[in-house]
Amino acid sequence: MHSKEEIYYCQPVFRPPSEAYSLLIQLTEGCTFKCDFCMSNLRKQFLVRDVKLVKKDLDIARKQYGPNVKRIFFLDGNAMVTPTEKLLEVTKYAYTLFPKLERCGVYAHSKDILKKTDEQLEMLSKAGLKIAYVGFESGSDRLLEIVHKHANKSDHINAAKKLMKASITLSATFINGLSGGNNPESSKEHALESADLVNNICPDDDRNWYIAFLTLMIPSGTEIFRKKVKGEFQEMNSLEILQELKNFINQIDFHNQSAICIFRSNHASNYLPIKGILDREKDKILSTINYGLTHKNILRPEFYRGL
Ligand SMILES: C[S@@+](CC[C@H](N)C(=O)[O-])C[C@H]1O[C@@H](n2cnc3c(N)ncnc32)[C@H](O)[C@@H]1O
Ligand code: SF4
Repeated sequence: MHSKEEIYYCQPVFRPPSEAYSLLIQLTEGCTFKCDFCMSNLRKQFLVRDVKLVKKDLDIARKQYGPNVKRIFFLDGNAMVTPTEKLLEVTKYAYTLFPKLERCGVYAHSKDILKKTDEQLEMLSKAGLKIAYVGFESGSDRLLEIVHKHANKSDHINAAKKLMKASITLSATFINGLSGGNNPESSKEHALESADLVNNICPDDDRNWYIAFLTLMIPSGTEIFRKKVKGEFQEMNSLEILQELKNFINQIDFHNQSAICIFRSNHASNYLPIKGILDREKDKILSTINYGLTHKNILRPEFYRGL
């Protein structure tokens, strides 16, 4: 009797919510960074998998799911760090197996993007790597340093511009509450610098790009968890979180009125589901936030929040 061939996964795996229905393929394991809030690389030794093994998983997926797969997401925490030839090879191979494939995607740290040349990113984009999910977390250099992001605001701006130049869709995340509670000045700086970052990367055209705000969770095992236990970090409450988001939205001001920046703050970690197009739906977004600020009973209860 043949044992069933299975696609390999190094658990636990993390993927963006918008890749929920995508074929997940393990290209790397873990992450080359170790940000204070993130559990992506706890218990995992970073590695780039052998291309032969990745192709074998794609073959198994072709047998299991047929030829009609439309989206693939290459795991893990920063698969963009994969050497360009390898990333190109697996992306091209995926398109030969799945003729209806519309896009491949990866998580990318800004520094992984900056390490690639414009030509390399262009080749990847042409091969079908069409979306990169980048964790900006904040536009405040001070906060980025505190949480050990190993990238600053200008790295984020340059990485975003590089992706856009190569026609790879940018989907960037920020973390609401990252500056901690009882610290209105730091929260304001986080909101204003993050808005300034977003204003700076607004393209001149009407392509779609994505900005999302998650709300800080404190998973056990992370550095931020350790800080919280030691009393060095205090979480924001739901109203402080919404006020921070309001400060961010208020400060958004694009030079291009045809921009289509799809804004979301509707992740399981958020207290209030919010979405809209920036900056043309700014007023609608602000009125949703104001409603949340004055109707605390509609906010997601703490025990329903998750990553
Ligand atoms: C798995 S990470 C991958 C992003 C990519 N490696 C990078 O750093 O640019 C996806 C995103 O989830 C968010 N995230 C991770 N841990 C979080 C936490 N504890 N609370 C809220 N958001 C978190 C961050 O925005 C992070 O960038
Ligand atoms: S946020 Fe991204 S770069 Fe930082 S540890 Fe998590 S996966 Fe790695």
